[in-house]
Amino acid sequence: MNILGIETSCDETAASIVKDGHRILSNIVVSSLKEHGKFGGIIPELASRRQLEYINPIVEESLEKAKLKLEDIDAIAVTISPGLIGSLLVGVCFARALSFALQKPLIEVNHIQAHLYANFISSDQNNHWPRLPAVGLVVSGGHTSLFYLKGFARFKLLGQTLDDAAGETFDKVARILGLDYPGGPAIDRLAASVQKTTIRFTCAPLPGTLNFSFSGIKTAVLYFKRDAKDQKNFPTAEVAYAFQDSVVEILVKKCLLACEKLKTKTLLIGGGVAANSALRQRLSSEAEEKGVKVYFPSLELCMDNAAMIAGLGFHLLKKEKRRDK
Ligand code: KG4
Ligand code: ZN
Repeated sequence: MNILGIETSCDETAASIVKDGHRILSNIVVSSLKEHGKFGGIIPELASRRQLEYINPIVEESLEKAKLKLEDIDAIAVTISPGLIGSLLVGVCFARALSFALQKPLIEVNHIQAHLYANFISSDQNNHWPRLPAVGLVVSGGHTSLFYLKGFARFKLLGQTLDDAAGETFDKVARILGLDYPGGPAIDRLAASVQKTTIRFTCAPLPGTLNFSFSGIKTAVLYFKRDAKDQKNFPTAEVAYAFQDSVVEILVKKCLLACEKLKTKTLLIGGGVAANSALRQRLSSEAEEKGVKVYFPSLELCMDNAAMIAGLGFHLLKKEKRRDK
């Protein structure tokens, strides 16, 4: 079964064709991110205008790359929420019109759940997929949430951020430090040049819960920068390292606590911050010590993409068909 996935929840316009829920035939992504850089964050109106311009050529390209025609598509999966309303509308209207014209099913997919599904897709046919049930952490620009996954479409929320998302905090701290937007990759690169530092920040531990809070550390970095006596020789790289270290520490701690609480040995990570090299390293080694197998999507599948939408869409459609029988 060939599913066409469409993702337009933020600044990326993406289309992808996934076969039988796992094998990527094409995965095309274009982003208006650079245009938002000078504002230090996404401008919703600009993002949705670009979605309108890009959607047609991106879907055409995804078909071309997969060497398929529209008639070969069995269903259309589209991101329904969460996201910027103007951007979401472009993808949803496009998908609805296509579904009506082709008389093929339309599947509405939740963007956050799809980020975890990115661990179950690849262009390689012979991959071994993670076993469920699992604990899943979605850590992106808009979300930091821990789930218990019993099946592809069975998610239970275990905890989430009470304020800023981890990715958003990376972006805001990068801005305080005068680094490029988006801040996650910029901090990741700069922190890699540091081995250790005496500078220390801490994230609110929120003991006994699986919730997160990142607004405090953002303010701590802001005050540290503001109060530094020697602004000329400000240790930007060390601050980036100390900040990242603290965020990674709390993410690792809560993930492993969730695995322990739910007696689960499988941990799935998804979302843009899952591309962070320190998180990948530290979580892999600490999870191994606890006998937990941790899965990260490939770097391109950590970011917003439509392959994860098409892949999860396949299972949602199967579930719907079973229910109709
Ligand atoms: O999942 P995503 O593409 O979009 C959302 O659904 O939000 O995530 C984007 C976020 C941005 O905040 C970006 O700074 C962060 O992911 N990010 C990173 C890294 N690469 C992207 N954060 C930390 N380290 C990275 N290497
Ligand atoms: Zn996302």
